[in-house]
Amino acid sequence: MSNSTPPTFPPSATMEVLISKEQIAERVAAIGKQISADYAGHSIVLIGVLKGAAIFLSDLARAIEVDNTFDFVAVSSYGRARVSSGAVKLIKDIDNPIEGKHVIIVEDILDTGLTLSYLRGLMLQHKPASLKIATCLDKPERRLVPIEADYVAFSIPNQFVIGYGMDYAERYRGVEDIRLFPDEAVGH
Ligand code: IMP
Repeated sequence: MSNSTPPTFPPSATMEVLISKEQIAERVAAIGKQISADYAGHSIVLIGVLKGAAIFLSDLARAIEVDNTFDFVAVSSYGRARVSSGAVKLIKDIDNPIEGKHVIIVEDILDTGLTLSYLRGLMLQHKPASLKIATCLDKPERRLVPIEADYVAFSIPNQFVIGYGMDYAERYRGVEDIRLFPDEAVGH
Protein backbone atom coordinates (compact mmCIF):
# COMPACT_ATOMS: atom_id res chain seq x y z
CA MET A 1 0.00 0.00 0.00
CA SER A 2 1.46 3.31 -1.06
CA ASN A 3 1.51 6.34 1.22
CA SER A 4 0.18 8.53 -1.57
CA THR A 5 -3.11 6.60 -1.77
CA PRO A 6 -5.74 8.49 0.17
CA PRO A 7 -7.68 6.36 2.66
CA THR A 8 -11.25 5.66 1.55
CA PHE A 9 -12.71 6.96 4.78
CA PRO A 10 -10.32 9.29 6.60
CA PRO A 11 -10.83 9.51 10.37
CA SER A 12 -13.19 12.36 11.28
CA ALA A 13 -10.68 13.70 13.81
CA THR A 14 -8.39 14.68 10.91
CA MET A 15 -11.10 16.83 9.31
CA GLU A 16 -11.36 20.54 9.98
CA VAL A 17 -14.26 21.57 12.22
CA LEU A 18 -16.51 23.97 10.34
CA ILE A 19 -19.16 24.29 13.06
CA SER A 20 -18.55 23.05 16.60
CA LYS A 21 -21.08 21.13 18.66
CA GLU A 22 -21.31 24.14 20.99
CA GLN A 23 -22.17 26.45 18.08
CA ILE A 24 -24.75 23.92 16.85
CA ALA A 25 -26.36 23.69 20.31
CA GLU A 26 -26.59 27.48 20.52
CA ARG A 27 -28.29 27.86 17.14
CA VAL A 28 -30.66 24.93 17.70
CA ALA A 29 -31.74 26.49 21.00
CA ALA A 30 -32.31 29.84 19.25
CA ILE A 31 -34.37 28.26 16.47
CA GLY A 32 -36.35 26.26 19.04
CA LYS A 33 -37.15 29.51 20.81
CA GLN A 34 -38.13 31.23 17.58
CA ILE A 35 -40.42 28.35 16.56
CA SER A 36 -41.96 28.29 20.05
CA ALA A 37 -42.77 32.00 19.72
CA ASP A 38 -44.05 31.73 16.14
CA TYR A 39 -46.39 28.83 16.99
CA ALA A 40 -47.41 29.88 20.52
CA GLY A 41 -50.75 28.27 21.37
CA HIS A 42 -50.56 25.77 18.50
CA SER A 43 -49.45 22.18 18.06
CA ILE A 44 -46.94 21.39 15.35
CA VAL A 45 -45.83 18.37 13.38
CA LEU A 46 -42.13 18.11 12.57
CA ILE A 47 -41.40 16.01 9.50
CA GLY A 48 -37.78 14.89 9.35
CA VAL A 49 -36.11 13.85 6.13
CA LEU A 50 -34.26 10.58 6.72
CA LYS A 51 -31.56 9.97 7.48
CA GLY A 52 -29.56 13.17 7.56
CA ALA A 53 -32.05 15.24 9.57
CA ALA A 54 -32.61 12.68 12.34
CA ILE A 55 -30.14 14.21 14.80
CA PHE A 56 -31.10 17.81 14.05
CA LEU A 57 -34.78 16.89 14.47
CA SER A 58 -34.20 15.14 17.78
CA ASP A 59 -32.37 18.19 19.17
CA LEU A 60 -34.86 20.66 17.67
CA ALA A 61 -37.91 18.79 19.02
CA ARG A 62 -36.43 19.08 22.52
CA ALA A 63 -35.71 22.79 22.06
CA ILE A 64 -39.30 23.56 21.03
CA GLU A 65 -41.62 24.39 23.88
CA VAL A 66 -44.94 24.14 22.04
CA ASP A 67 -46.69 20.81 21.74
CA ASN A 68 -45.07 18.85 18.92
CA THR A 69 -45.10 15.42 17.34
CA PHE A 70 -42.79 14.11 14.69
CA ASP A 71 -42.87 11.92 11.64
CA PHE A 72 -40.34 11.01 8.97
CA VAL A 73 -40.13 10.78 5.21
CA ALA A 74 -37.35 9.23 3.15
CA VAL A 75 -36.38 10.17 -0.38
CA SER A 76 -33.91 8.68 -2.78
CA SER A 77 -31.04 10.97 -3.60
CA TYR A 78 -29.05 10.56 -6.76
CA GLY A 79 -25.47 11.79 -6.84
CA ARG A 80 -25.80 13.32 -3.36
CA ALA A 81 -24.46 16.84 -3.21
CA ARG A 82 -22.00 16.53 -6.05
CA VAL A 83 -24.03 15.88 -9.16
CA SER A 84 -27.76 15.61 -9.10
CA SER A 85 -29.87 14.05 -11.82
CA GLY A 86 -32.71 16.19 -10.61
CA ALA A 87 -34.85 13.13 -9.92
CA VAL A 88 -36.21 12.76 -6.41
CA LYS A 89 -38.33 9.78 -5.40
CA LEU A 90 -40.32 9.15 -2.22
CA ILE A 91 -39.22 5.97 -0.46
CA LYS A 92 -41.12 6.40 2.80
CA ASP A 93 -44.23 8.56 3.24
CA ILE A 94 -45.56 10.11 6.47
CA ASP A 95 -47.32 7.71 8.85
CA ASN A 96 -50.03 10.06 10.12
CA PRO A 97 -52.34 12.50 8.32
CA ILE A 98 -51.29 16.18 8.40
CA GLU A 99 -54.42 17.76 6.97
CA GLY A 100 -55.24 20.93 8.92
CA LYS A 101 -52.01 20.73 10.93
CA HIS A 102 -49.11 23.13 11.28
CA VAL A 103 -46.18 21.36 9.66
CA ILE A 104 -42.46 22.06 9.59
CA ILE A 105 -40.27 19.98 7.29
CA VAL A 106 -36.91 19.44 8.99
CA GLU A 107 -33.92 18.89 6.68
CA ASP A 108 -30.18 18.57 7.23
CA ILE A 109 -28.98 20.58 4.21
CA LEU A 110 -30.73 22.77 1.70
CA ASP A 111 -28.41 22.37 -1.27
CA THR A 112 -29.72 22.42 -4.86
CA GLY A 113 -33.24 22.68 -3.42
CA LEU A 114 -34.53 19.75 -5.48
CA THR A 115 -35.38 17.56 -2.47
CA LEU A 116 -37.19 20.24 -0.52
CA SER A 117 -39.13 21.65 -3.44
CA TYR A 118 -40.29 18.11 -4.24
CA LEU A 119 -41.22 17.45 -0.61
CA ARG A 120 -42.92 20.79 -0.18
CA GLY A 121 -45.13 20.08 -3.20
CA LEU A 122 -45.94 16.64 -1.88
CA MET A 123 -46.80 17.86 1.63
CA LEU A 124 -48.99 20.67 0.27
CA GLN A 125 -51.14 18.01 -1.40
CA HIS A 126 -52.04 16.82 2.13
CA LYS A 127 -53.53 20.28 2.84
CA PRO A 128 -51.73 21.25 6.05
CA ALA A 129 -52.90 24.43 7.86
CA SER A 130 -49.40 25.82 7.28
CA LEU A 131 -46.10 24.53 5.97
CA LYS A 132 -42.61 25.81 6.80
CA ILE A 133 -39.08 24.52 6.36
CA ALA A 134 -36.28 24.28 8.93
CA THR A 135 -32.79 23.33 7.80
CA CYS A 136 -29.61 22.89 9.74
CA LEU A 137 -27.42 24.04 6.85
CA ASP A 138 -28.06 26.15 3.79
CA LYS A 139 -25.74 26.22 0.78
CA PRO A 140 -27.31 29.10 -1.18
CA GLU A 141 -24.63 29.02 -3.90
CA ARG A 142 -25.73 25.57 -5.03
CA ARG A 143 -29.40 26.32 -5.60
CA LEU A 144 -30.92 25.01 -8.84
CA VAL A 145 -34.55 25.73 -7.96
CA PRO A 146 -35.84 28.78 -6.10
CA ILE A 147 -36.63 27.71 -2.55
CA GLU A 148 -35.71 29.16 0.82
CA ALA A 149 -36.02 27.77 4.33
CA ASP A 150 -37.93 29.63 7.04
CA TYR A 151 -35.47 28.58 9.75
CA VAL A 152 -31.76 28.18 8.96
CA ALA A 153 -29.19 27.30 11.61
CA PHE A 154 -26.14 28.06 9.44
CA SER A 155 -25.51 29.29 5.94
CA ILE A 156 -22.29 27.77 4.56
CA PRO A 157 -20.22 28.03 1.38
CA ASN A 158 -20.17 25.29 -1.24
CA GLN A 159 -18.16 22.71 0.68
CA PHE A 160 -18.95 19.08 1.44
CA VAL A 161 -19.51 18.46 5.14
CA ILE A 162 -20.12 15.48 7.40
CA GLY A 163 -21.30 15.01 10.99
CA TYR A 164 -24.38 15.90 13.03
CA GLY A 165 -26.40 13.42 10.98
CA MET A 166 -24.74 14.18 7.66
CA ASP A 167 -22.85 11.47 5.85
CA TYR A 168 -20.36 10.64 3.20
CA ALA A 169 -21.33 7.19 1.83
CA GLU A 170 -23.32 6.54 5.03
CA ARG A 171 -20.32 7.21 7.31
CA TYR A 172 -19.72 9.93 9.89
CA ARG A 173 -23.37 10.62 10.82
CA GLY A 174 -22.55 10.28 14.54
CA VAL A 175 -19.70 12.84 14.48
CA GLU A 176 -20.71 15.60 16.91
CA ASP A 177 -19.25 18.63 15.11
CA ILE A 178 -19.90 19.52 11.49
CA ARG A 179 -16.60 18.95 9.69
CA LEU A 180 -15.25 19.59 6.19
CA PHE A 181 -14.88 16.39 4.21
CA PRO A 182 -11.57 16.61 2.31
CA ASP A 183 -12.00 17.10 -1.43
CA GLU A 184 -9.18 14.68 -2.19
CA ALA A 185 -11.04 11.82 -0.44
CA VAL A 186 -14.19 12.24 -2.52
CA GLY A 187 -14.81 9.40 -4.91
CA HIS A 188 -12.01 7.14 -3.66
P1 IMP B 1 -30.72 18.97 -2.52
O1 IMP B 1 -31.90 18.27 -3.12
O2 IMP B 1 -29.60 19.15 -3.49
O3 IMP B 1 -31.06 20.25 -1.81
O4 IMP B 1 -30.13 17.88 -1.55
C1 IMP B 1 -30.02 17.99 -0.25
C2 IMP B 1 -29.46 16.69 0.27
O5 IMP B 1 -28.16 16.41 -0.27
C3 IMP B 1 -29.28 16.81 1.75
O6 IMP B 1 -30.43 16.43 2.42
C4 IMP B 1 -28.11 15.92 2.01
O7 IMP B 1 -28.59 14.62 2.26
C5 IMP B 1 -27.31 15.93 0.74
N1 IMP B 1 -26.15 16.83 0.89
C6 IMP B 1 -25.98 18.02 0.30
N2 IMP B 1 -24.80 18.56 0.65
C7 IMP B 1 -24.24 17.68 1.51
C8 IMP B 1 -23.00 17.69 2.28
O8 IMP B 1 -22.19 18.63 2.24
N3 IMP B 1 -22.80 16.62 3.06
C9 IMP B 1 -23.65 15.56 3.17
N4 IMP B 1 -24.81 15.53 2.47
C10 IMP B 1 -25.09 16.57 1.66
